[in-house]
Amino acid sequence: MSRKIVVTSALPYANGPIHIGHLVEYLQTDIWVRFQKACGNRCLYFCADDTHGTPVMIRARADGIEPQELIQRVHAEHIRDFTRFNIEFDNYYSTHSEENRQFSELLYKRALENGSITKRDVEQAYCAQCDMWLPDRYIRGICPRCKAPEQYGDSCDACGGTHRPTELIDPVCANCGAEPVRRTSTHYFFKLGDYTDRLRKLFESGHTQKSVQNKLDEWFKAGLRDWDISRDGPYFGFKIPGEQNKFFYVWLDAPIGYIASCKNYCDRNGLDFDKVWNSDEYELYHFIGKDIMYFHALFWPAMLMSAKFKTADKLFVHGFLTVNGQKMSKSKGTFIRAETYLNHLDPQYLRYYYATKLTSGIEDIDLNFDDFVTKINSDLVGKIANLASRSVPMLTKNLDGTLGRLDRKGAKLVRILQGAKGSIIADFDQLNYAAAMRTVSALADESNRYFDREQPWETIKTDPEKTRATLTAAVNAAKILTIYLKPVLPKYAQTVERFLKINPLGYADVDNVLEEHKIDPFERLVERVETEKVQAMIDQSREPVAPSARHGGQSPDEATEQQAVANEPIEPECSIEDFMKIDLRIAKVDSAEPVEGADKLLRLELDLGSVKKVVLAGIAKAYKPADLVGKKVVCVANLKPRKMKFGVSEGMILAAGPGGKDIFMLTADDGAEPGQRVH
Ligand code: 2FM
Ligand code: ZN
Repeated sequence: MSRKIVVTSALPYANGPIHIGHLVEYLQTDIWVRFQKACGNRCLYFCADDTHGTPVMIRARADGIEPQELIQRVHAEHIRDFTRFNIEFDNYYSTHSEENRQFSELLYKRALENGSITKRDVEQAYCAQCDMWLPDRYIRGICPRCKAPEQYGDSCDACGGTHRPTELIDPVCANCGAEPVRRTSTHYFFKLGDYTDRLRKLFESGHTQKSVQNKLDEWFKAGLRDWDISRDGPYFGFKIPGEQNKFFYVWLDAPIGYIASCKNYCDRNGLDFDKVWNSDEYELYHFIGKDIMYFHALFWPAMLMSAKFKTADKLFVHGFLTVNGQKMSKSKGTFIRAETYLNHLDPQYLRYYYATKLTSGIEDIDLNFDDFVTKINSDLVGKIANLASRSVPMLTKNLDGTLGRLDRKGAKLVRILQGAKGSIIADFDQLNYAAAMRTVSALADESNRYFDREQPWETIKTDPEKTRATLTAAVNAAKILTIYLKPVLPKYAQTVERFLKINPLGYADVDNVLEEHKIDPFERLVERVETEKVQAMIDQSREPVAPSARHGGQSPDEATEQQAVANEPIEPECSIEDFMKIDLRIAKVDSAEPVEGADKLLRLELDLGSVKKVVLAGIAKAYKPADLVGKKVVCVANLKPRKMKFGVSEGMILAAGPGGKDIFMLTADDGAEPGQRVH
């Protein structure tokens, strides 16, 4: 009997674009959902944008728009990117929806009624200039221990110590630089500790991977503390019923967004929501990254238990993405947006490459571009697609495009490929895509060896019917490989189905041999990757200033709130000799103008005495073009010109800061001469 399954991926924040780090999870989930569907199971995949909270508010303010307008725009962008990567949700909704408000209120009301909510006064930082309450990660100051400047309100990157925001020396608002004030207000808390025993039991029953258990044990050992679920206004979110200026914390309504997305889908498709979401008829799985485990392993099931909703059958936790062995970095050009990737490369490459790396473990996965090029060119193009591209055209050109019957050797090859079905299915089901892809690659090798041994390009000259039998086996092998690859490469599979003139392939078709069947001419399946295109993608992704990147390992409250102000670790050392290569010159700004389509960039024409240079500088949020004309700035004069998305930049001006309005240019006084060297 087929299974009925509901699947979710974590909801991406509505304050920024989808990037290749996000795609690890959406591709992992999409492949699993497609696999379940191919097995004949009913599988529904729900997701939504995570729209509430401080970062969305700040981003909307920075763009000078209402949060609603921002989340609408980002929603359309997210859907566009997911669609182009062939990620197919049954519903992609929004947490800013009526369904989500209703379920948030319902879960809260039930928690209130069963005594899981308590109130307490909390002292918090407030920035009067921004009219905003500041989460710890939005306060910067001097570390009380090691005196390192520019540290967050909760921990110090320099000495690794933790502290309270009140202990920071000279604290400032990370958004505007003003000094925050401390104010006390009443917050609502969810009594997580009351659920300790039930949560322990849930994990003993195998709620998630074994490798995650250590972390959970640590949390249980430390004791589960009450969870602050309210925020004072101004805040972009849902009002707490009965309150005038208090809102649900974004992490309360975010996972409820899974339910809202399901409800919205059920209502539109005439399904019984209570059955789909809240009964044993459907299994339920959440795919998440390891940085948001605390929410999904503790808060979320506790909230569901409190409200008498069922909890998920399993959490599937994955690791982070590193690129070329390091954390994604804007300055290195490895913080690559989905959109930028798509400007240069075929989405099928990334689907295939991630599949070759993904296991059920929580280790980070590395996108190494040399390995990426090799895997695509030698495995996917050179072996797998090659089998179809060398056999199908030979059949259509010489043998009327008509398959014959398998001979003894052909039948043996096909049996070998058929024999892998069980292990491939088990590997996909257990999230071991890397193993499935290794099997596919080995089977492609086997099939190509068969092809080389049988030499159809020779036999066609003397024995067309023997050749037809050989090609029939090769085409059947290509068909079976396509079935095994279909969850990973749906578009590739569709093309094969089209030229083989067959119905959409499923696992049942592994055992149906295609014989005495007329096919259509071959269509190209996938092209080789050109390394220049990979480089162009990296170049386009490189940004001069590098604020903001969500990264892992943080405690739960930081996960949401640090995104807008996160730091990157210090880069590897560079020698003084390297540093001395930089030729700094005074440059006069001849003209400055905005760059269409790039809200952070200004196009500056600089006079460096003997030469003029055009520089694209990421300072548009901090400086008005008119104020810059005539100013003397400091320019890196010998920087190799770089092709950026919006044109070539022939240098760089010296400016630094956390980003947005807070970027400060180094200027020289009027007496400085354009072209004069500075040190
Ligand atoms: O960490 C994140 O990107 C969150 N937006 C994930 C939310 S998942 C769910 F709980 F909504
Ligand atoms: Zn401020």
